[in-house]
Amino acid sequence: MSNNHASTLIEAKNITKRLASSDSKELLILDQLDLSIDSGESVAITGASGSGKTTLLGLLAGLDLPSSGEVSLLGKSLSPMNEDQRAALRLGKVGFVFQSFHLMDNLTALENVMLPLELDDKSTTGLKQIRQRAKEALQQVGLGERTRHLPGQLSGGEQQRVALARAFVSQPEILFADEPTGNLDRETGEEIIALLFSMQQQNQTTLVLVTHDDDLAKRCDTQYQLESGRLMT
Ligand SMILES: Nc1ncnc2c1ncn2[C@@H]1O[C@H](COP(=O)(O)OP(=O)(O)OP(=O)(O)O)[C@@H](O)[C@H]1O
Ligand SMILES: [Mg+2]
Repeated sequence: MSNNHASTLIEAKNITKRLASSDSKELLILDQLDLSIDSGESVAITGASGSGKTTLLGLLAGLDLPSSGEVSLLGKSLSPMNEDQRAALRLGKVGFVFQSFHLMDNLTALENVMLPLELDDKSTTGLKQIRQRAKEALQQVGLGERTRHLPGQLSGGEQQRVALARAFVSQPEILFADEPTGNLDRETGEEIIALLFSMQQQNQTTLVLVTHDDDLAKRCDTQYQLESGRLMT
């Protein structure tokens, strides 16, 4: 826990996730799992490949719903909401970074970073300001000179920097990161992690980080291991 007055930002109560397997049997991926994450806390989730880490992240972020149990995000229960309502809740408040960058191939680095701000129709920020904020976010990740490049013209590490700039540009309360260094060499991965933690600390962002790397997990306030559908400390 980061401080004594922390409020709970993400809460999973008794969540179970079943998925259909190829032979029409059901797979139990998550089994009556509980998790509570406070504002500003950094949480690492480790576990073997296939243990359900990405599935769990998707449920905590409301990208998917559990088979049973309840998830609350930013104080709101997700189960009564439809997909659009959950997306609206995330907008501007939740950022994502994935292993495979997930940038829009046909947009420049700058346009990719502008996107979350442009999508926010509740915002009154004009295009000029959006462009300026996106530029600053790219400068922050050391890509001030690469704003017009398309993702295909950038290295993997540079693409992940763009993804970080895009994730942080709206100063989200929560960042979900799924193996953010999984496709990068060690040195580049360490640069990305240094940036991620520095931006997280600067913005007091709540961080949920899925990783295979125990050293990386240890840098978070709390570490859990996903095993047999449950979280172990
Ligand atoms: N859409 C789906 N339909 C059926 N099974 C799925 C689906 N998505 C994931 N699974 C299965 O659920 C289990 C958990 O997958 P998940 O991707 O959450 O694991 P993971 O811990 O993230 O693994 P990795 O470390 O390899 O990324 C796996 O056995 C996987 O095959
Ligand atoms: Mg995964």
